[in-house]
Amino acid sequence: MSSGIRRGLTNYGDAAFSLFLRKAFIKAMGYSDDALERPIIGITNTYSDFNPCHATVPQLIAAVKRGVMLAGGLPMEFPTISIHESFAYPTSMYQRNLMALDTEEMIRAQPVDAVVLIGGCDKTIPAQLMAAASANVPAIVIPTGPMLTRTHQGERLGACTDCRRFWARFRAGEIDQQEIDAVNARLAPTAGTCMVMVTASIMACITEALGMSLAGAAAIPAVHSERLRLAEATGSTAVTLVRNNVRPDAILTAKAFTNALIVLHAIGGSTNALIHLTAIAARRGVRIDLDRFDALGRKVPVLVDLKPSGRHYMEHLHEAGGLNAVLRELKSLLHLDMPTVSGKTLGQEIAAAEIVPGQEVVRSTGNPIYPSGGIAVLRGNLAPGGAVIKHSSATPALLKHTGRAVVFDSLEDLAARIDAPDLDVTRDDVLVLRNAGPKGAPGMPEAGYLPIPKRLGQQGVKDMVRISDARMSGTAFGTIVLHVVPEAALGGPLALVQTGDMIRLDVGERALELCVAPDELERRRAKLAPPLPAADISGYRRLYLGHVLQADAGCDFDFMTPEMIDSVAPVA
Ligand code: FES
Repeated sequence: MSSGIRRGLTNYGDAAFSLFLRKAFIKAMGYSDDALERPIIGITNTYSDFNPCHATVPQLIAAVKRGVMLAGGLPMEFPTISIHESFAYPTSMYQRNLMALDTEEMIRAQPVDAVVLIGGCDKTIPAQLMAAASANVPAIVIPTGPMLTRTHQGERLGACTDCRRFWARFRAGEIDQQEIDAVNARLAPTAGTCMVMVTASIMACITEALGMSLAGAAAIPAVHSERLRLAEATGSTAVTLVRNNVRPDAILTAKAFTNALIVLHAIGGSTNALIHLTAIAARRGVRIDLDRFDALGRKVPVLVDLKPSGRHYMEHLHEAGGLNAVLRELKSLLHLDMPTVSGKTLGQEIAAAEIVPGQEVVRSTGNPIYPSGGIAVLRGNLAPGGAVIKHSSATPALLKHTGRAVVFDSLEDLAARIDAPDLDVTRDDVLVLRNAGPKGAPGMPEAGYLPIPKRLGQQGVKDMVRISDARMSGTAFGTIVLHVVPEAALGGPLALVQTGDMIRLDVGERALELCVAPDELERRRAKLAPPLPAADISGYRRLYLGHVLQADAGCDFDFMTPEMIDSVAPVA
């Protein structure tokens, strides 16, 4: 295949003319023939006035460009979609696949020999890795990096573990308008991604564990000069990737995804990240089997003492040695021979990394935060395709529970009835929300954290078993079953549940059962309305609803995943 400026010529039926025309136009930007003969490194510009998590992208691009030129390449930035969690309607998950399509096609469409992907906010790095996996052009990621923290009345604030907490205190009248305004101004004190261990931080860690970013990339704060130096090194490394023809297919292998799943468990787990990792792996034909993920979780301890489940923040993980401090503890479980974008293996990166004496952020495997991973996979007649529960955030007494279902048909139904004084509900009931999945909502919102009915909340009830086909923010706590597959909108068993049915949850047995006789379920199924009424929809919504897969397949589009050729490898 041609390279550099000759790569992917626009088709006019005369290749020489296409190149002539391309050069004529690009010279309008002031490029010389000498510059145009060099390896071209594309740099995604995901800056947006709507995306504060990406506020430093212009400085990162400048540093990446410097690195590319120092290594003899020609840097060329180009825009792609940018997604911020708070500026994405109906949900950022709905737009993730659009960003992946956009990024992939722009990598294909333009003459880039390698691409530097600058992402950060929750869905951006997943979308970029999905794109890189499909385009299979040499690629390297540099995350924008986490925010620094700020305090309020001496208490350190975390975005967004403290967002809901302070809002609940305000609604309860515990703090006044002046105080909530002060908190609002301090929750996100710098540019960068949320500084607790939730999806953005987890995906940055996973990217580093996969070998798709340089060492240190996950934890260096967004506003530290070290991140700019890392960006410069990332640019130089992109040129080396071209020279050595290192493509994502050499890095994103089944063993690398196994490493990533181990890291996912060890850093505290994230149900959202599991969906993203499943989608990225599937783009390379690697199947992440939920039961194998569950089995891994029984062997991998949680080691990182970060909010929301621990004490510290990403800046402290950086000071403690970054992700390499975690990888070092996991060495006996990891495939250390996996290549990384640096040219070193994962094992060599770990060996070369700083050891910080006395650090208290990353525990040893002999002294973990939790002895096993935080996410379990459930099966049963209510979730034949699987469901997940973050049991490390659940109430232990509810992990084995049988209760009466109280069903909400949709997000609107939930909002209308959950606080109704006459809602027939007790603390032992099981709250069920349906039609909040990938197609049903659509976009699988983070609505799985069903609020405790007001009347029960006033009686001091803090947790109940809750079940849905939705997702949940990593900052939420409770005995909450998520990602039920198949979702209700596809006619999954969740659609058959009626208020008053008994539901059995047993996390130890990994069981989720609807205690209703099969023939009764069949009778109910016969009366179900056809899934997804034909609606007059067009554009991206039509594409999305027609093709989005279920959570166990990563919620990617069905036409984006090749035949599965491998699956995540077991560990010893
Ligand atoms: Fe962007 Fe949290 S809102 S990372």
